[in-house]
Amino acid sequence: MIKISPSVLACDFAHMADDVKRVEDAGVEYLHLDVMDGMFVPNISFGVPVITSLRPCSKLIFDTHLMIEDPIRYVEVFKKAGADILTVHYEACPDVRAALEAIRAAGMKAGISVKPKTPVSVLAPYLDVIDLILIMSVEPGFGGQSFMPESLPKLAAARTLAMQADHVIEIEVDGGISPKNASLVVAAGADVLVAGSAVFHAADVKAAVDALKNAENVSPL
Ligand code: DX5
Ligand code: ZN
Repeated sequence: MIKISPSVLACDFAHMADDVKRVEDAGVEYLHLDVMDGMFVPNISFGVPVITSLRPCSKLIFDTHLMIEDPIRYVEVFKKAGADILTVHYEACPDVRAALEAIRAAGMKAGISVKPKTPVSVLAPYLDVIDLILIMSVEPGFGGQSFMPESLPKLAAARTLAMQADHVIEIEVDGGISPKNASLVVAAGADVLVAGSAVFHAADVKAAVDALKNAENVSPL
């Protein structure tokens, strides 16, 4: 079964708890929290205090996507804030293995993300310490961008790689996902769909979530 992870980057920051409740009631599994530092990406979003405040408002799995330089420095604080999955960028880690091991040691699932131009093959040496691979289908930094079809073969490569591990590795896709391309990314190998605009900007949030979930029953062609 595919999982939906709505990105709160697209919600109304003045009414975050209400918006989160709306997606929780719509039956999503994860909540995607995009943390940006203005260095690794050219944008600043929100950080630890916002996650700490949201934590008591929701039972969802907090799927935290760190777009920050040298993220190992903040593993413990994000755990304390309530993160369940902590995803770091391959390109942002001076020592990828150390970062993933630190995340697991802190009691979270360890995710690793690659930007559109980074090949999936760079992740092969770390399979034993990866719980989730996040394929970016836009350049990270901003919500509301168009899906890059170049991500489709990367999803397939990530799926093939994940199958070589002796534990479950989830394949997540992030950027420009909507009911229009959801069946394509699922057919390519994604099992967690991040969607910001397509969920929070929809007139009917529940209908948008249902349409995304239905992707696995729809032929991509
Ligand atoms: C981009 C973020 C995404 C983004 C998704 O850097 O990682 O999570 O907010 O937003 P949409 O679904 O609007 O492309
Ligand atoms: Zn994200």
